[in-house]
Amino acid sequence: MYKVLVSDNIAQKGIDILEAAGIEVDFKPGQNREELLNSIGNYDGIIVRSMTILNAEALNKAKNLKVIGRAGTGYDNIDLDTATKNGIFVFNTPTGNTISAVEHTLGMILSLSRNIAQANQALHNDIWDRKKYMGVEVKGKTLGIIGLGRIGSRVAKRAQAFGMKVIANDPYLAPKNAEKINVPLLPFKEVLEKSDYISLHTPLTDETYHILSHKEFAIMKETARVINCARGQNIDTEALAAALEKNKIAGAAIDVHEEEPVKATNNPLLSFEDRVIMTCHLGGTTTEAMDNVSITAAEEVVSVLHSNLPESP
Ligand code: MLT
Repeated sequence: MYKVLVSDNIAQKGIDILEAAGIEVDFKPGQNREELLNSIGNYDGIIVRSMTILNAEALNKAKNLKVIGRAGTGYDNIDLDTATKNGIFVFNTPTGNTISAVEHTLGMILSLSRNIAQANQALHNDIWDRKKYMGVEVKGKTLGIIGLGRIGSRVAKRAQAFGMKVIANDPYLAPKNAEKINVPLLPFKEVLEKSDYISLHTPLTDETYHILSHKEFAIMKETARVINCARGQNIDTEALAAALEKNKIAGAAIDVHEEEPVKATNNPLLSFEDRVIMTCHLGGTTTEAMDNVSITAAEEVVSVLHSNLPESP
């Protein structure tokens, strides 16, 4: 009987699929690192989201592991080179949470513009202050999208419906594809200089690590607002905090963080509660997205385990 570890939260529908296929499932979201390292050798498959770090240390202990299902998009928590070397199949479920990530981004843009999160917090503390929470309209403002792929292009379409002017930078997209959705592709620096809102939609790679740091914040408008629902390491958090401190930009809405989970001790942005809204990596966390990615990940794991693939080299 094959054994699969589910080490991050997924929907019950995914677990049901594994069990219906005769697979023994250990559902252990949030288990500590030591427990993972001690037990990973027992499993034929593992399903993760973004919290479980499958680096070389973990994968080299996973002597029976044949398949890793990433319920979600980003692969940055998995050491693909080691997995490949060890003959482990790795797949993601890239389309299942697209719409949820897009809608979360739009929610962040609107919430940031209208101080919704801060006003809500104040009212729950018995403070009624209409003057302090005066907002700005997004209509007529420029949204600069960095990474006009599956998520970025859908954010663009919805922002255009709000009357925003959308520009983008994406070195991998043919300009004619951007033209089709009426989004001019511009050099990175120009997007930063011209935008009122800058939203990141890039995967985490060597190229995009700290794609926004001191130099980039310095050339943005003082009224600019930055949104990150992509990957935490795309932004240099210390540099963002410094930019806010010096009023080089107006605000930020951050769903993904350099260190997760965020704590008062590891994130300087927590001290900017009037200008920074933060959510706990919720972009892909909706009922619909969780069902989609969990079902696909479970089906893929079953198909890999049941197809009698050759033993790892
Ligand atoms: C993803 O990469 O799909 C997202 O970060 C969602 C997640 O892992 O929760």
